[in-house]
Amino acid sequence: MDVALVEWSQKLEFGLPMIDSQHKQLFDLAATFAGNGDQIRVMKTLVMLCDYVKVHFRAEEEMLAALNYPDLDAHKLLHAEFRGMLLKLLDSARQLTLDEIANEVQYLIYGWFSNHILQVDVAYVSWMRSQSLQNQD
Ligand SMILES: [Fe+2]
Ligand SMILES: [Fe+2]
Repeated sequence: MDVALVEWSQKLEFGLPMIDSQHKQLFDLAATFAGNGDQIRVMKTLVMLCDYVKVHFRAEEEMLAALNYPDLDAHKLLHAEFRGMLLKLLDSARQLTLDEIANEVQYLIYGWFSNHILQVDVAYVSWMRSQSLQNQD
């Protein structure tokens, strides 16, 4: 599947400190896969990445649930899909070379995840802004 690869930049920031820092943290973790490493360190980082994705998705979903975000169910399905892809990678990682793992992580974070921020997370940010404008009336 062809997905545009997007590295971290301010373009991905929403001005929501918790969300922005969690998003950035995932790009920072992904960046550590490039270059040399040893199998054990790469596997540990992969586990950290999976854990931190879970932390972020949970925080985002709790925030949106508290706001009664109308598209939360669809958003949760996408998070679950991504978690499935990551867990599949974690499962198969022992049969992969470090370069193959790095490529997969790059696709998942710079590809899928950055596209999710730019196309899906962005929708709740617009919705939150429209809500706060309405509340000012
Ligand atoms: Fe999300
Ligand atoms: Fe997010």
